[in-house]
Amino acid sequence: MNESKLEIKLAFIIGLRNIVSDEISRYADLHIIKKETDLFYLDFLQDLTTVKHLRSVARAYVIVQNSKYNPSYISNHKSILGGLIDIVIRNESNDAFKTFKISCAGSESKEVRGIAEYIQRTYGLVEKEDADIKIHIVKYDEIWEVGVQITPRPMSLRDYKLMNMSGAMDPTIAFAVNSLCGLDKANSYLNIFSGSATLLIEAAQCYPNIERFVGFDNDKKRISLAIQNIKKAGLMKRIQLKQKDIFDKPDLGKSDAITSDLPFGMAISKNEDLNNLYQYFVDYCQETLNKDGNLVIYTSEHQVLERIILNSKFKIIETLDLNFITSVNSYLRPKIFVCGFK
Ligand SMILES: C[S@@+](CC[C@H](N)C(=O)[O-])C[C@H]1O[C@@H](n2cnc3c(N)ncnc32)[C@H](O)[C@@H]1O
Repeated sequence: MNESKLEIKLAFIIGLRNIVSDEISRYADLHIIKKETDLFYLDFLQDLTTVKHLRSVARAYVIVQNSKYNPSYISNHKSILGGLIDIVIRNESNDAFKTFKISCAGSESKEVRGIAEYIQRTYGLVEKEDADIKIHIVKYDEIWEVGVQITPRPMSLRDYKLMNMSGAMDPTIAFAVNSLCGLDKANSYLNIFSGSATLLIEAAQCYPNIERFVGFDNDKKRISLAIQNIKKAGLMKRIQLKQKDIFDKPDLGKSDAITSDLPFGMAISKNEDLNNLYQYFVDYCQETLNKDGNLVIYTSEHQVLERIILNSKFKIIETLDLNFITSVNSYLRPKIFVCGFK
């Protein structure tokens, strides 16, 4: 039998490849073996702590690949899968995993049922649809891959999120927006349209050097949800939130960096015209961003925004085209715009 080596597989949102690559390069113990559009493969490590701390990655798995590792082969060599489960369990606290699920074609077949019985018997786990241990046996081209997700929940679900507000930003995207802002040399950070405070919390957690974090939103419910999230993150002393409307041009001083996840669809009030709202937003940023500062904007309505930016004092330094399916199964193709003064 060809010995297959263990690897770590990381899955992320299409468009964040360079962000993930940059984040990984900060850790001496992480080595990328292969890069795909939305997947990276890393050399295996016994201690998965660093992998679990990656903020730009949605999910991570311990995997092995081999042309022979079909479900029938794995049912006759169960220790191959057992080895992966052992690694994942060893790297979490004792009671993290109670249930398991096997994703595999023919999941009712004799072979797969045999594998499920083995897992139940060996690890005392219960088979369940929404499971803690997620196992996959899938074929990519001619190669079978057997893998186990290393965390019970996706890494992109953060502990500080008490409730999932509709329209809340994916935290891995918030991390990407913040990392494009030049925050290492910033002292002040403003987040316009702060919603549930994803961008503010991600920034305050990653940049202890920044003295002043301010955000505003005109929706009282969202402000109160954001306060709960900020409290949960232990950041009440560092983040100020204001209930303000962009049309009132709130006076919050100048900032070294501005980020925004722009409202669209349901998140804007009736009778509001998107063009007008985005124009107010860009005008406000022109007045409140410091000369050398960066403005980083995330939006699905990129054509409207791009037209307004091109007629403003800002230039577009870089754009990132993202592509993903939301939790309600709709396709989104938003963009991140990195801007500075012309
Ligand atoms: C796309 S959401 C931001 C989501 C946020 N990034 C998060 O992770 O929760 C846009 C936000 O803009 C706010 N908003 C809409 N119109 C506004 C206005 N005129 N002034 C201030 N905030 C506004 C909405 O209340 C909403 O929270």
